[in-house]
Order: sequence, then structure tokens, then C-alpha cells
Amino acid sequence: MSRSEGKAARPRAIRSGPGLFAGLSAKILTLTMLFVLLAEVVIFVPSISAMRLRWLEDRLSAAAAAGIVIDALQPADLPEKARDETLMAAGARAIALRKEGMSQLLASTPITQPIDAVYNLAESAPLDEMRTALWTLLFGGNRLIRAYGPVGDSAMVIDMVLEETALRDAMLVYARDMALLSILISLITATLIFFAIDRIMIGRIRKLTQSMLGFAADPGDPARILAPETGADELSIASRELSAMQTNLQQTLEQQRTLAELGLAVSKINHDMRNILATAQLLSDRLSDVEDPMVKSFAPKLIRTLDRAVGYTGEVLAYGQMSATVLRRALIPLLPLVIDVRDNLGLDGTGGIHFDGDVDPGLMVDADGEQLFRVLHNLARNAHQALFSEGAGGLIRISASRQDGVVVIRVEDNGPGLALKARENLFSAFRGAARSGGTGLGLAIARDLVIAHGGTIRLVEREARGTLFEFTIPDREVKGGGFEN
Ligand SMILES: Nc1ncnc2c1ncn2[C@@H]1O[C@H](COP(=O)(O)OP(=O)(O)OP(=O)(O)O)[C@@H](O)[C@H]1O
Ligand SMILES: [Mg+2]
Repeated sequence: MSRSEGKAARPRAIRSGPGLFAGLSAKILTLTMLFVLLAEVVIFVPSISAMRLRWLEDRLSAAAAAGIVIDALQPADLPEKARDETLMAAGARAIALRKEGMSQLLASTPITQPIDAVYNLAESAPLDEMRTALWTLLFGGNRLIRAYGPVGDSAMVIDMVLEETALRDAMLVYARDMALLSILISLITATLIFFAIDRIMIGRIRKLTQSMLGFAADPGDPARILAPETGADELSIASRELSAMQTNLQQTLEQQRTLAELGLAVSKINHDMRNILATAQLLSDRLSDVEDPMVKSFAPKLIRTLDRAVGYTGEVLAYGQMSATVLRRALIPLLPLVIDVRDNLGLDGTGGIHFDGDVDPGLMVDADGEQLFRVLHNLARNAHQALFSEGAGGLIRISASRQDGVVVIRVEDNGPGLALKARENLFSAFRGAARSGGTGLGLAIARDLVIAHGGTIRLVEREARGTLFEFTIPDREVKGGGFEN
């Protein structure tokens, strides 16, 4: 199956990046503006309160300065009308100067309405100030207020009655200016932050997102793997990790594709092979009737081997249909399986490769005999192939012992030991083959079968030359201590 066929078979929805207003940039832009405005609102109250105080103090000092001068002049020097006009210019309705306990009215216009509020500028608490300022801004206007405070550092106190309108107008102008300024500042800040963040983060995040979307759309295309960044920050690390993940995923997909193709091919070959083997099986059955002692000795082995081959082919077909190996476990002696392995590998001592089946004839194992044979056969065949390739002869040994409910089986040889590639990819299908002609399935199959029996398999590291695999087959324990068949 080609890649394009694979794509056509599994169409995927095209996913795209976030829209303009759903993106991170738009969110950050809006949030920055909001936060700056919020900060401005928080500082607005104290600053308008300070502005109000300043405004009143300015008025009081202006009135005090004029008042002190007028006070020093003789009444004749300045007509009363001019004096009042001078002092009242700022919207004041009455001005008095107090010193040494004496109060002197400097100027006044007729006051008909009652005074609404009195403020002592020297002794006002900041919180009260803010409350008053806010109140004035929101609801003030046509009131008459009285404010007094000291004149500079002197003991004199200037006291003034004035209309609030001018103060409120000034406060409104100040508030408007501040609002405009706030909007301007928030716009400038948000834009600057936006560009900075876009450059430092969002642009790069966008690249990562685009790469993920692109890769998801066609994971088989090597051009879609992200070119990783080299920096040391979090996004660079993320980009390197993503790139590595995509590379791994692509390799895995490629492997799976190969496996699927291989599986299909094997199933086809296997299907016909089963038929051929079945014919051979039929023919070999007839050998049992031949009286020749030579034929009598090998015919049962031949028939058993053919039976096994037919069995395997059936299993491969079943595996192709994704059904797991069904174990037919029983308590069986291990020794006959070991002898079968020896015979199957043709290990009769010729060629310098010796076989030692060090298994107690009474040792029983709770296993599927055919599958356990496959485990032993694969391990012993590897050992045989390793020794054979060296050409110097050697020893293959299968030993076993029972420890309570677990049978521990060892398959060892004194050959060259595992190559690095085989060691690094131990038990992984297709990866571990380190000899020419090897498919790298033997150890993977052995491991799967051992695990299916509930056991474990491992490579035992040791000083001696050669290789030692050890695996366990635990008994199936059933309630009442018996065995299930
Ligand atoms: N006893 C051993 N001594 C030396 N090398 C071994 C031994 N057993 C396994 N190996 C190495 O491990 C590799 C993987 O073994 P495995 O049985 O999984 O695959 P294979 O023998 O290459 O192919 P297959 O068994 O599928 O025909 C072998 O190629 C071989 O290099
Ligand atoms: Mg093998």
C-alpha cells in the first residue's frame, strides 16, 4: 500500500489555526489595554483628590497673599469696592484672616444661602479627602463651601467661603484629560507589548501550532517535521521536543506501514504454504506403514514437525486477523520439549556443537507445549546460529528448575555473546537482528509467548563468554491449589 493510498483511505478533517480575534495576540492586546486602564482607574481617585486639595490651597494662598497686602494698606488707599473685587476674583464669597485669636473679615459679598460643607485643609485625612473629591466630582456643583488653612508656616489662618462650581469645573477638566491620557497610554503600552510579545512568543507559538496542524494533516511527509530552534528558553525546548516527537512518530508510522505490508504478504504466502504442508502431511502419514526400521525411527519426528508447521501457519493466519494466541495450557513434562528442540536443530554432536539438556525428567511445567517449544526453539536456534557462524564448535545448554510455583528455564551457549545492536534492541521486533539473514523476530516472539504465560524473560549478564537467557513460566494458580486444564 503506497503512502498516497494510505492517505486516501483515511481522510482527515483539515484543521486550521485560530482566527484573528481568537488568537493569543488579540487576547494579549485586549488584556494589556484593560489592565493599563484598570491601573489608571486605581490611581485616578488619589490623584483627583490631590488635585482638588491643590486647587483649594492655591485659592487660599492667593487670597492670603492679597489679604496680607490689603491688610497692611490704609483703608483710604484702596476703595472698598476695588478691594472686594480683588479678593473675590476667584469666585470667593467671603475671605477672613485669623491671627492671634482675632478674625478679620477681608472681603465679602452678601451670602444668602447656608454653607453646605466646611473643610479644614490642614487636618484632612487622605481617605476623607478621596471620598470628598469623588463626591464633588459626581454630585457637587451648586454648593457653597467653606475652606480654611494656615498661611505658609505662619500662625495666620486664611478662611474662605466659595462656590463649588469653579472647583468642580476644574475637576471635570482634569478627569477628562486624565481619561484621554489613560486611553493614550494604554494604547501605546498595549501596542508596544503586543509587538514585543508577538516577536518573543506568539510568532514562535504560531510556528509550533502550524507545524502540529501541518504534521497532523500528513504525518508521512518528512518536509512537515519542524526545524527545531537552538535557543535555551521554554519555547526552544518545546520546539526541539516537538521536532523529535514528530521524527519518532514518522518512523513508527513508517514501521507500521512496513509491518502491515509485510503482514499482508506473509498471510498470502502462509495461506498457500498451509495447503502445501497439508499435502506433505498427508503423504508423510503413509510413511508410518513402511516397515523399514530407518523410516520407522524418523517418520514420527517428520510427522510431528509437519504438524507443527501446519499449526504455525494457522496461527500466523489467525494473527493476521488480529486474534491473540490462545494458550492451551496443561501440566506437561519439560524434557520431551527440550529433546524435540535438540532434534529439530539437528544437534547430535556432529560439527562440534554439543547440546546439554540438563532437565529433570520429572520436572513438570504448566504451559502450552507448542508455544513453549517455540520459545525454546527460538532461543536455542539463535545460540546455534551464533556458534555455527563462529565455526569453532561450542556448547548449548538448556537447564531448568522449579521454585515453588514457578519454573525457571535457562538457555545458554558459550558463543560470541550478543552484538551491541541486538543488545540495544533486545526483544523488539525487526530491530534487533544483528546477523545477516536474521529478521529480528525470534526474541520478540519468545518474549510475547513468555508474557502470555504470565512469565518474564531476561538476558543474564555474566562474566563467562556466551549468552544466557532466563525465563520463567509460573503455574496458573486456581482456588483450592489445583491446576486448571
Ligand atoms: N545466543 C546468541 N548469541 C549471539 N547473538 C545472539 C544470540 N541470540 C540472539 N542473538 C542476536 O540477537 C539478534 C536478534 O535475535 P532474534 O532471534 O530476535 O532475531 P534473528 O535471529 O536475527 O532473526 P529470526 O530469529 O527472526 O530469524 C540476532 O540477530 C543475533 O545477532
Ligand atoms: Mg532468531
